[in-house]
Amino acid sequence: MSEIKIETPVMDGFRTAMRRMASSVSVITTRNGDVHHGMAATSVSSLSFQPPSLLVCINRSIAMHEAVRGAGRFCVTLLGEAHGPVCDAFGGKLSGPERFTVGGWHEDVDGLNYLPDAPASMFCRLDATYEYGTHTICVGVIEKVLLGENGAPLIYREGGVGGFRRFL
Ligand SMILES: Cc1cc2nc3c(=O)[nH]c(=O)nc-3n(C[C@H](O)[C@H](O)[C@H](O)COP(=O)(O)O)c2cc1C
Repeated sequence: MSEIKIETPVMDGFRTAMRRMASSVSVITTRNGDVHHGMAATSVSSLSFQPPSLLVCINRSIAMHEAVRGAGRFCVTLLGEAHGPVCDAFGGKLSGPERFTVGGWHEDVDGLNYLPDAPASMFCRLDATYEYGTHTICVGVIEKVLLGENGAPLIYREGGVGGFRRFL
């Protein structure tokens, strides 16, 4: 088989390479005072088991950034295959609290929004932040996990969403 190698300027190449990376989509929610915020995110990653923790990278120019820092708590809800419209709304199609009109959002006892019909929701305390370039890496220690039905995940690639196909 012949090898295909195309050299591109770094920024173009990086954008194209990242668009080709398939990622599970989550919605990050927080509540700062009485105001609810939410954003779609693919940058969620497991960090450590001791303490149970994850990280998410948040652009410093979006409303969510200051909201998470102010609240000190956030929830990561993993989206399922049926949550395409939620991904659209929280990825920028809708703005502010209007985003929560898409999907069956509930509030936990501390007022954080989550989707009971999602595969999982992880409630985190913001434990550390690291600024890098345009983004801040937010480290959350997981305080509570709610598990929904273990259905198929929502996968994002090349600007669109699709499903997951198991081979093994
Ligand atoms: C599938 C998807 C994944 C995204 N992942 C991230 C992410 O990991 N970090 C981030 O800062 N923005 C990410 N975004 C963009 C934010 O969701 C978007 O900028 C934000 O909702 C805009 O909020 P604002 O209107 O309050 O500024 C993603 C968007 C989409 C559609």
